[in-house]
Amino acid sequence: MKILLVGGGGREHAIAWAVAKSPKCDKLYAAPGNAGIAELAECVPISVMDAPALVSFAKEKDIDFVIVAPDDPLAAGVADAFLDEGIRTFGPRKNAAIIEASKAFCKDLMKKYDIPSAAYETFDDPDKALAYLDTIEAPYVIKADGLALGKGVLICQTIEEARDGIKEIMIDKKFGDSGNKVVIEEFMTGREVSVLCFSDGKTIIPMTSAQDHKRAGDGDTGLNTGGMGTFSPSPFYTDEVAKFCEENVYQKTIDAMAAEGREFKGVLFCGLMLTDKGPKVLEFNARFGDPETQVVLPRLKNDIVEVFEACADGTLDKIDLQFEDNAAVCVMLASEGYPVSYEKGYEIRGLENFKDKEGYFVFHSGTKFDENGKVVTNGGRVIGVTALGRDLVEARANAYKATELIDFDNKYMRHDIGKAIDEQ
Ligand code: AMP
Ligand code: GLY
Repeated sequence: MKILLVGGGGREHAIAWAVAKSPKCDKLYAAPGNAGIAELAECVPISVMDAPALVSFAKEKDIDFVIVAPDDPLAAGVADAFLDEGIRTFGPRKNAAIIEASKAFCKDLMKKYDIPSAAYETFDDPDKALAYLDTIEAPYVIKADGLALGKGVLICQTIEEARDGIKEIMIDKKFGDSGNKVVIEEFMTGREVSVLCFSDGKTIIPMTSAQDHKRAGDGDTGLNTGGMGTFSPSPFYTDEVAKFCEENVYQKTIDAMAAEGREFKGVLFCGLMLTDKGPKVLEFNARFGDPETQVVLPRLKNDIVEVFEACADGTLDKIDLQFEDNAAVCVMLASEGYPVSYEKGYEIRGLENFKDKEGYFVFHSGTKFDENGKVVTNGGRVIGVTALGRDLVEARANAYKATELIDFDNKYMRHDIGKAIDEQ
């Protein structure tokens, strides 16, 4: 098959790696891809948001199957653009991707269908939102309704901070129209777990669990980022928790979406918090996580193209999803200053150390070729180094050792990815 992958980050590099090793894949294209993906796919410089150009490229090359990976194009209807032309596509339509693109929609859905989540109120009037703050207690959880590059959630310890947050989102429009509405939510405490699930609209199959470290600094300090590292599986996602989520979250959500006329085909990413009152949903995403994918896919035993086809064709009930009985840790190598401001364009040294190094993966997040053909830094998050191990402690030791093999100016990373697992 000729396959087109839409996207160009670390998640897409991991997907490209899994797709490229499938015997079903004869030729892989990526739009736009990146310097790492270029080793596995032919990269074409088309923006992920340019649906007409993507569709005409797919027709010109006779593409058999498309994978739309990032949130923005899914929310904008890029999967619909392919599907409407009769091109088989993995990824939800716009009317289903709304489960991520509108937090108000998502919260209302969970309330209507009794899916466990934090109590909340939604506001489209800033004065009413501000008045509501006076009736509740700190900490305040304020969420911009729409997509905001993972930065639209504020956890405020004081009422002043919370008021400023409402003003920034709803009046100053820090996230544009994404801040037309806000959700103000009950604060929850507990361990966080991410469970990515494949769905064909009727059947849903959870993948192995993972956990992300979202804060920029060691000890979960500093600003929220797109994710500084991940590990899989999560030791906190016990059989009991899995059973609860299978009964109360996964299937219920897919059925709820179908009942609303929003059939969900693709990956449903369930962000869970394990509270003392049981697991509750923090958020849903309509796609693979980044960098969760970088620890989940290296452990997948199945041919991923078969799984993608089953999701698109509605035959997921025929798939027996299997993961290796091992563990993976991904440490993100970032540019100093991320997520605020950072320099780009530095040469990345040591990538050759990973050629054919079994059990290790370098997934590029923000890289490109410079005019001399050298791979240089091109983003806040640059490269995720993933290592496998028999268990999490071994995988973590392997991953940190491997981070020493890659070097670039202003290299920055956290030193405690997966640390919670040592407390076991
Ligand atoms: P979200 O994008 O909704 O997953 O939120 C981003 C992060 O904010 C989550 O990973 C949590 O760490 C935190 N968060 C979101 N909602 C809550 C909540 N209701 N209580 C406590 N923390 C939260
Ligand atoms: N790692 C969190 C996300 O992909 O949204």
